[in-house]
Amino acid sequence: MAEFKVAPANATAGEKLLTWVDNRFPASKLYKEHLSEYYAPKNFNFFYFFGSLALLVLVIQIVTGIFLVMHYKPDANLAFASVEYIMRDVPWGWLIRYMHSTGASAFFVVVYMHMFRGLIYGSYRKPRELVWIFGCAIFLALMAEAFMGYLLPWGQMSFWGAQVIVNLFAAVPFVGPDLALLIRGDYVVGDATLNRFFSFHVIAVPLVLLGLVVAHIIALHEVGSNNPDGVEIKGPNAPKDAQGHPLDGIPFHPYYTVHDILGVSGFLLVFCSIIFFAPELGGYFLEYNNFIPADPLKTPLHIAPVWYFTPFYSMLRATTDVMVNVLCVILGLAAVGALLKGRLNLIAKGLVVGAALVAILLLKTFDAKFWGVVVMGGAVIILFFLPWLDYSPVKSIRYRPQWHKVLYGVFVVIFVVLGYLGIQAPSTIGTIVSQVGTLFYFGFFLLMPWWSQIGTFKQVPDRVNFHPH
Ligand code: HEM
Repeated sequence: MAEFKVAPANATAGEKLLTWVDNRFPASKLYKEHLSEYYAPKNFNFFYFFGSLALLVLVIQIVTGIFLVMHYKPDANLAFASVEYIMRDVPWGWLIRYMHSTGASAFFVVVYMHMFRGLIYGSYRKPRELVWIFGCAIFLALMAEAFMGYLLPWGQMSFWGAQVIVNLFAAVPFVGPDLALLIRGDYVVGDATLNRFFSFHVIAVPLVLLGLVVAHIIALHEVGSNNPDGVEIKGPNAPKDAQGHPLDGIPFHPYYTVHDILGVSGFLLVFCSIIFFAPELGGYFLEYNNFIPADPLKTPLHIAPVWYFTPFYSMLRATTDVMVNVLCVILGLAAVGALLKGRLNLIAKGLVVGAALVAILLLKTFDAKFWGVVVMGGAVIILFFLPWLDYSPVKSIRYRPQWHKVLYGVFVVIFVVLGYLGIQAPSTIGTIVSQVGTLFYFGFFLLMPWWSQIGTFKQVPDRVNFHPH
């Protein structure tokens, strides 16, 4: 047990109370460690707003969610009407509901920007691998949370969207149909599905999400933040003042708390404009078909997920029989390339040929629908491995060759195009473009160990670049 502190005789009532608390709970210690004495690099830029914004949106979603649950009815016969009741009769219900629905999209905007920042500044690399891995787990949990929340209004899109996605699980070999049954709780999406999705959406996934966010921030504060230069400010060789504080760092509070108020203001300006003037955002944030009650007998003409899922949905749709054949050819060529180029002994050559044959056989054994599910899931899972795919000698994009910057630019464009195509009805040209996009997406990550080392890198400075205004 730590030694008991005694407040000086002339201490104020507040100071005495704090001393009393500190003797029982490390309030001051935590405040110092994570705020007033947490040194963050002084060259944070625009992209560093999005971590605190993600925290803000998390709080908005939880608070508005609590109020929604007070009036919402998780019953297939009552759910749709209870949402209409919230919108029309509950005092301020419309505001709470629009904050929650806009918050869902805002969460993904903020998190995509946050992940992009990590990607371009190499924030996933040693020693921040766990920060990144917790982040990827958060992203997965967030997708599950959004998917299950979308069923709750029990509109046409809620129903048919869930129908499409749950049926995908049925494509898993051997256990698929049982798995889909387990998720639905019935042979069709129905009341049982609504009840279990409600339970997961309001308590199970948010608990996991909160735990992961705490782990994410604890891991970050253990190793310290990265920055746009990718220079370590706390390393053994980093310059420090007489007290051992990094010369390139500033205390998070008050500097970044005040700094983040700017980000929060900008965010709230856009967030409130959408809530008050365009809460459906042209059908992107709230799909028009979802204003029609769920009808199991009437399939909408065009079923599309909400925009934040569409890049991955495009990859699912891109995985046709032709695409599976293309994958077989790519695998075959890769094996031939390894045999010709690599200096392999006889056993290694045998292994390469064997592995390629097994992979091609597997690809042809199961149908394209299953591989579509694998591709869609793999597109998220591959992110977990990023720390071990990047072999570049520098962290930040600032010191990489010019063509790397172009490649990252193309990556973003392709991700957006995949997102756009996922919203559109399928077409021949759309399918071809999404197939090329999917190959590029996976090529970007899987070939990273090779391409990330190539080119002329700039010298990384010893100190961060910082120009006070
Ligand atoms: C609920 C969602 C999330 C919350 C609340 C959150 C919160 C935060 C906060 C507060 C920071 C420190 C401030 C900053 O660097 O911007 C941070 C840093 C970081 N986050 Fe997240 N995060 C979330 C999701 C994610 C996701 C999905 C990823 C990646 C897959 C991720 C990867 C990172 C990385 C790599 C850092 C360190 C960045 C650096 O030091 O340059 N985070 N996060």
